Amino acid sequence: MAGKLQIRTVEKSDLDFIHKMRKNNDIMQYWCGEPYTTKEKVLKNYEDRQTDTTIREFIIYQDDEKIGYTSLFNLNFSHRTGTFGIMLDPYHQGNGHAADSTRLIVEYGFNILNLNKINLDVVDYNKKAIHVYKKVGFQIEGEKKQQYYINGKYTNGLLMGLLKGDYKPK
Ligand SMILES: CC(C)(COP(=O)(O)OP(=O)(O)OC[C@H]1O[C@@H](n2cnc3c(N)ncnc32)[C@H](O)[C@@H]1OP(=O)(O)O)[C@@H](O)C(=O)NCCC(=O)NCCS
Repeated sequence: MAGKLQIRTVEKSDLDFIHKMRKNNDIMQYWCGEPYTTKEKVLKNYEDRQTDTTIREFIIYQDDEKIGYTSLFNLNFSHRTGTFGIMLDPYHQGNGHAADSTRLIVEYGFNILNLNKINLDVVDYNKKAIHVYKKVGFQIEGEKKQQYYINGKYTNGLLMGLLKGDYKPK
């Protein structure tokens, strides 16, 4: 039987795994970014983040298998807010890991970092992600018109948020 889904800090030895996803347009089109990142840049970002207190990055894993990457960034400890991001390895997508992974990092944000609110940005055609976020308790708070240019088209972005007081653990 498969073990529990867990998160742990990103280590240097995870950078190949992260780089593989950062080069994949199937993933990056939903991250509103180019599938064009060198291994050196992934390493440089990783090194810069060792002294950056506004971000927490995690590997999602099950047993010894890496499932994906997730982070809380733009952390603001005055307002007690942070922004959530997630990408799962395509090999591990479609297995129902997304909501549980989202819960792991949301609970880290609320229970360890003492955040009051977690925000996220999502392109409006990412129906799967929006479904997962709503399932965990995020609500749509706004829409940004033509916010992103992806694969030759402008698309709207949705702003979603989850308050600690509204979050219901599973
Ligand atoms: C978004 C992502 C994390 C979801 O992970 P996943 O493994 O594919 O998703 P899961 O299988 O765990 O769950 C998908 C859920 O969405 C539902 N779903 C699938 N396609 C859907 C659609 N078109 N519309 C609505 N719901 C949909 C599934 O039925 C399932 O719901 P359920 O658990 O209630 O049955 C993953 O696809 C990913 O990394 N995508 C690329 C990067 C990305 O989009 N990141 C988020 C940026 S905001």
